This record gives sequence, C-alpha cells and structure tokens, in this order.
Amino acid sequence: MAIHPREQRLILKYADEPGYTPHIDSYLEKGGYETLKKAVTMEPQSIIDEVKKSGLRGRGGAGFPCGVKWSFVDRKSGKPIYLICNCDESEPGTFKDRQIVHKDPHQLIEGMMISCFANNVAKAFIYIREEMPYGAKILDQAILEAKEKGFVGDNVLGSGYSCDIVVHRGAAAYICGEETGLIESLEGKRANPRIKPPYFPAVLGLYNCPTIVNNVETLCNPIHILKMGADEFAKIGRPNNSGTRIWCVSGGVQRPGYYEVGEMTLGDLVYDICGGPLPGRKIKAIIPGGSSMKILKNGDRYKGKNPDGSEYDWGLEDIPLDYDGIAAAGSMSGSGGMMVLDDTVSIPAALANLMAFYSHESCGQCTPCREGSLWLKKITSRMVHGQAREEDVDLMLSVADQIAGRTICAFGFAVAWPVQSYIAKFEEEFREYAAHLSDPNADRQAIKEL
Ligand code: NAI
Ligand code: SF4
Repeated sequence: MAIHPREQRLILKYADEPGYTPHIDSYLEKGGYETLKKAVTMEPQSIIDEVKKSGLRGRGGAGFPCGVKWSFVDRKSGKPIYLICNCDESEPGTFKDRQIVHKDPHQLIEGMMISCFANNVAKAFIYIREEMPYGAKILDQAILEAKEKGFVGDNVLGSGYSCDIVVHRGAAAYICGEETGLIESLEGKRANPRIKPPYFPAVLGLYNCPTIVNNVETLCNPIHILKMGADEFAKIGRPNNSGTRIWCVSGGVQRPGYYEVGEMTLGDLVYDICGGPLPGRKIKAIIPGGSSMKILKNGDRYKGKNPDGSEYDWGLEDIPLDYDGIAAAGSMSGSGGMMVLDDTVSIPAALANLMAFYSHESCGQCTPCREGSLWLKKITSRMVHGQAREEDVDLMLSVADQIAGRTICAFGFAVAWPVQSYIAKFEEEFREYAAHLSDPNADRQAIKEL
C-alpha cells in the first residue's frame, strides 16, 4: 500500500517497501535485532522503567499503560511468568496487526523477546486468530529463522538468557481475543472469560501463573522506545497519548486502508489522508475504534473541559485522533478500526448487522449478554425487515441498559454501547423504522429465518 506523506511510520516503516520480505535477511538489512542485542545487556527493570516513562498505552483496545501492566506482574510467587501476544485480531473494522505479522514478523519477535527479557519470561506464546493461517505459517518460519541466528531459544545472543516462543492457532471465535477467554483457550478449554477483578492475568493468568497479555502492535513498540529513548518516543503525540498509532479506515471514504500516524485530528485522517467521502456523498457518522465503540455523529458539537480547565468545542473533524481526544468526544479509540458511514447508510440496518454478529459471538456464560444480544438481534432484524413494533426503540434501550455493566467481560458493553449510542444520536431514524409497522415489500423469507 502506498505510504501517504502525512504518515509517520515507525512500526510499518519497511512493511510496504518494495522488495522487503518477511524473511530475516530483510529485517537484518534494516538493522533488525540490534535493539535486542542492546537489551540483553541492560538491567531488566531499567527496560520496564523506560517503557513506563515512554507512556506507551496498549494498542489492543483498552489503552492500558503497558509499563504499568508489566509492573503489576507478581514476581514473588516463584511461579513462571508467561507472556502472550494477543494476535486474535477480530474486532470488526480492525486489520492492523495482520499487516505486521504478514509483512514484518521479525519486528514482532524482536519486540516480544525484549519484553520477555524485561519481565523474566522463559516461555511466550503468540495466540493467532484461526482465520489467519498464512500469518501463522509466516510466524512459524520466522521463529525458526530467529532461533537459527540465536535471537530466540537457549542462551539468547550468548547472554545466558533463554526464552522460547510458541505459535498457537486460535479457536475461531471473537471471544478468544478477550484476554482471559484467550488464556482459557490456550489452556485447551472453551474460551469462557474469567471474572476480573479481583485477579488480573498479571497475578493469575495462564496455568494460574502471572501472565502478561499484550497486543501485536503494542509489543513492537519497546524496540522503538529503546532505540530512540523514552523521552523522544513520548514526544510523538500529545501527552498521555505517546507514540504512533495504526488506524484502519474502512467504509465510505475514497482511500480506505491502514495508516500509521502521530498527532493529528480525526478530520486530518478521514478528509485529508483518506480523501473524504465518495463523490456526491456526505459523512454521516464515524465509529472511531472498532464496532464495539460508541458512534460519533457528523454535525454534532463535542464540548467539555480539558484537565487544565480550558474548554473545547469540536466538530467531528476537530477531534484529536488519540485515546484522550476520542474519549473526550464520548467514545473510545479502541483497536483503531475506524468505520466511516456515509449518507447512504441506514443506521438501524448497520445496527442490525452488528447485533447479528454479537449475538453469534456471545460465549453464553452471562444471561444478560446471551439472551439480551439475541433479543437485540431479533428486534433490529424485524425492524429493518418492515416488521417493527411501536415499542421497539424503547425495548431495545431497556435490553441494552440491562446488559451494560452486568456481565463478566467487556463484551456486554460491546453489545450495549452501539445500541445506546446509535439510538441517542439517530433516534428519529429508528422511530421512523418503528413507525412503519408493516411494510408490504418486507423480505418475508428473511424474517422467517430470523
Ligand atoms: P480492561 O480495561 O479490562 O483491561 C485492559 C488491560 O489492563 C488488561 O490486560 C488487564 O488485565 C489490565 N489491567 C487492568 N486493570 C488492571 C489491574 N488493576 N491490575 C492488573 N492488570 C490490569 O480491558 P479489556 O477487557 O482487556 O479490553 C477491552 C478492549 O478490547 C475493548 O475496549 C476493545 O476495544 C478491545 N477489543 C479489541 C479487539 C481486537 O480485535 N483488537 C477485539 C475485541 C475487543
Ligand atoms: Fe460471555 Fe457475554 Fe458474559 Fe462476556 S459478557 S462472559 S461474552 S456471556
């Protein structure tokens, strides 16, 4: 993919360079594994301190500070510490981690080895999404190559430190990406998420041992933090939003794709880099960080107070493209899967599509999620098939309210937030659908199959 001049590529710097391949020779030619050589001569704690100082936040979705997560690891239990790379990228709209795995797998391996060394990990796993078989093959091959050169395995680079990396194919369900579901799946069980708190994986994770679970993009960053120093790294982006981020833009824009950028606004990305809406269309709304996130409506004003007391008043395009900017606008940057909906998109139809997905993917442990997601699928489906009932909008809100915050894992929010936010922002569209109680052109066969 062509690199846009406004991109600031750190992680994907070489990925799309002509002639660059996933093989180790390409990576070594670009100075690959030099940072690992430096890292194994450092005090492990100083690496953790550097990552903390850089302000690196998790790129998987929650944005939790990476160095802080590492410092929560229980190092006194005497049990082995595991590191798991969460490569189960399944959030609809997100396709960034696969770029790294497919095009620059050694960067991930080097980042993992630095992270493992820092945290005294002797065994690490890459849990890769079942639907990424090509990526799994590439990683297997890359690990073999890295072992041959002494970057992975016994006595890494003669340092006396040993660590193995195992690629584990996922079980083909969205919930396998939830970190505790992933751990259950890795242990050979059904991916039912565990209750947290009180125990986070940092204390009780894989095989009840302290475990670090980090996303692919997150794990590449320690290389760049050590290379440029935490202070320089922290200068990319606004305070508390350090480093670049890879955004995946899909939907109604002229140039959909993945873009790695530093500090900019949502408008810079969508209108400038992605070329704005297709000819003759207008942007209606944006889902900023993957399908689980609250929708942002074009035309709304986003107002509030900054931490320093100053006020902000943004249009959609002015929202700072980072964790705090999007949070201040009432949503989340999530996994960076930005979906642009133009004025041809029916919001109730988009919601019906999402609810079909979530009801299929609920693991079924919690009644509100299992039953509620199914109800929401049924209501939204009948709505878009001309069979809505007058009370449906209120019913949807009531069901969503009873899911949010009443479940074991964040999946419950992923079901409830779209319903609550789509109705809050586009209530008139839903009411209009609900008012058409019986549409003679409704697809009866599709309704029967619901
Ligand atoms: P979370 O906020 O519960 O946790 C974030 C991370 O911080 C976890 O690793 C957790 O173990 C750790 N953590 C939080 N508090 C801690 C504490 N007190 N002690 C130790 N560790 C602590 O969020 P969660 O459920 O891990 O992730 C939810 C996000 O995942 C969603 O916002 C969504 O964007 C994203 N997601 C991403 C997908 C993808 O394909 N990349 C798929 C589905 C969801
Ligand atoms: Fe399973 Fe849904 Fe409960 Fe998460 S919220 S544990 S996906 S039933």
